[in-house]
Amino acid sequence: MRKTITLEVNGASETAEVEVGTTLLRLLRDGLDLTGTKEGCNEGECGSCMVLLDGRPVNACLVLAVEADGARVTTVEGLSRDGLLHPLQRAFLAHAAVQCGFCTPGMIVSAVALLRDDPDPSEDAVRRALSGNLCRCTGYRQIVDAVRAAAAALRAGEGAPEPPRRAETRPTALPVREEVPA
Ligand code: FES
Ligand code: FES
Repeated sequence: MRKTITLEVNGASETAEVEVGTTLLRLLRDGLDLTGTKEGCNEGECGSCMVLLDGRPVNACLVLAVEADGARVTTVEGLSRDGLLHPLQRAFLAHAAVQCGFCTPGMIVSAVALLRDDPDPSEDAVRRALSGNLCRCTGYRQIVDAVRAAAAALRAGEGAPEPPRRAETRPTALPVREEVPA
């Protein structure tokens, strides 16, 4: 059975016709070409598919696309603005917290949610917040250091880009992406 859904993704209104069993991960990667969200285990264990759903970090492989109908989704592609990386993205690069990079989008999305709720997290708090994100390359030292460095930068006023503005929802033929007007 198919259903038409409309959701906001990185500030753009998207409408898609999906099978009711289609996951949000499949819709993002295959329907909307947002391949920054990675597919790892596909069973909620690795965190590589982490996105924000109405601001809450979720594993997109465990969420049905129809459950995101009417919701606001932020993927790693939605964090930079006007070519400027999010402070967390810059910190991951500066601290060599990336090797193969497969885990990185999910790590950064989880960290965005953490720093929104806790601007000065302890090392333990960072490790707890990222406990659902697995990395098989770097170890976690550099990742924790990067998150805490980004937190310090944000506290010092090195602002994150503005979050995407809500877009007007206008269902159209599917799937289609509409840019938010400047
Ligand atoms: S792919 Fe979703 S948690 Fe691993
Ligand atoms: S950088 Fe390769 S899995 Fe984390």
